[in-house]
This record gives sequence, structure tokens and C-alpha cells, in this order.
Amino acid sequence: MSEQPQAVYPPLPFMPNHVGIIMDGNGRWARQRGMGRLAGHRAGVENLRRVLRAAVELNVPIVTLYAFSTENWSRPQDEVRGLLRLLAEALEREVSELHKNGVQLRHIGDLAPLSDTLKQQIRTAVELTRNNNRLIANIAFNYGGRWEITEAVRAIVREGLPADEITAEVIGAHLCTAGLPDVDLIIRTSGEYRVSNFMLWQGAYAEYYISPLYWPDFDKDEFYKALKVFSERDRRYGGLKKA
Ligand code: IPE
Ligand code: IPE
Ligand code: MG
Repeated sequence: MSEQPQAVYPPLPFMPNHVGIIMDGNGRWARQRGMGRLAGHRAGVENLRRVLRAAVELNVPIVTLYAFSTENWSRPQDEVRGLLRLLAEALEREVSELHKNGVQLRHIGDLAPLSDTLKQQIRTAVELTRNNNRLIANIAFNYGGRWEITEAVRAIVREGLPADEITAEVIGAHLCTAGLPDVDLIIRTSGEYRVSNFMLWQGAYAEYYISPLYWPDFDKDEFYKALKVFSERDRRYGGLKKA
């Protein structure tokens, strides 16, 4: 029996500090197999586990994973309920392992419409893992960039800040990602070229990588490929190309 050659992932000259992933294509992955959409989401959760492990192994410091948008409530009730249940199950099952692997779990988004049990489960996971420093994993669940910016504006107004003291830094400090660097690389799976309300402020200068793979098929090789493509990009921030 021939052995699978071990894949190698040589260190890259530039690594992103912060990678955002729009985990798209679960529904199409399932349809392709004649399965229901929820089976696709279940496969998506499984893959999330693998990708978190890959992020640790590839030395990515921060990932933000778009799991449920503020617009996803418009899906059929059964699917929404299934997604909420999958989040609860995943937390139940995976948190102790993630904790063991040094993952610091955070949540970004609006907890308000979630059940008290789910809210509590999320808070417990965040509290348990708060001192871990191998990887920061932000789970964006009921997250939307417009919601987040609106909330930041509300908070700033409530604090009574004078208009001329409102700077980009002040706004950044009122977002869910306060204290974290901007997202450097945004990966979207399933070949869709759109941002779908993800990290609108933090992604102002993000590099994009669109993978044709559906999310459940997005593996460590493809993740590494995205990081490699990123490391070859010329980021100019409105300036000129480096000599
Ligand atoms: C991404 O997969 C997961 C969520 C948005 C919750 P989709 O459910 O959007 O899958 P497609 O885009 O229909 O294939
Ligand atoms: C974006 O995917 C949201 C998540 C991956 C959680 P969608 O499938 O909801 O986005 P659209 O509808 O294609 O823009
Ligand atoms: Mg989709």
C-alpha cells in the first residue's frame, strides 16, 4: 500500500495578522449530494473544526468566522432553527477541546435575539478561554457590519462625545473588534464575489481571496494557498508600489 505523501507548508514571508472567513456554500454542497441544507450546515461545522486546527498549525494569530449574518434570519424558519441548534451543539461538543488547544473564543454580533441558554453558553465559552493565546477565534453569529457600525454610533452619542473628537480610532474602539487589528485577508468560499455585510469597517484595506470550493470542502491546503496568495500581494494603502 502506498503512503500518502505528507503535505508541507513552508513558512511564508508575510502572514496576515487577522483573517476573516465568509464560510459560504453549505447549501450547495448538500444539494450536490442530494442532501438537505441542514446536512450541509452540519458538514460546515465539522469543517470549521478542521479549519480552526489548521489555523493553529499554520500560525495564524486571529480568525473571524462569519457563521450567521443579520440577514440570515430571512431564511425558512426550519433552517434558522437548525443553525441555532448547530451552534449550541458545537459549543457543547467542541469548547473543551478548543480550550485545550489554546484557542481564545470570542463572539461578535448581536446576542439579544438569542435564547438565554445560548447566550449563557456563549458567555461561558468566552469566559473559559479568555486567557488562551494560541489563536483568537471570533465567531460572527448574528453579525452584520451595518449593525455593528450603527451600534458604535449609538454608543458614541450616548457617551456625549463632542463631534470634533470623533475620529476613525474612536469609531474602531466602539466596534465588536475593539483592540484587534483590522482584517488583512478576507476569504470567501463558494466562488461568490461579494462582501455580504462582513467587516465593512475593518476590511477597508483587506485583501480578498475567493475560493471556488464550497465551505465543507475548504481544507488546510486551500487555506495555505490563500495565505500564500496573500503573501504575494502588493499592499499599497493608497500609496505607491514598493521599489
Ligand atoms: C453558508 O452557507 C452558511 C450560512 C450562511 C449560514 P449557505 O447556507 O449560504 O450555502 P449556499 O450559499 O446556499 O450554498
Ligand atoms: C454570507 O453568506 C453569510 C455567512 C456566510 C454567514 P450568505 O449566503 O448569507 O450571503 P448571500 O446571501 O449570498 O449574500
Ligand atoms: Mg450562501
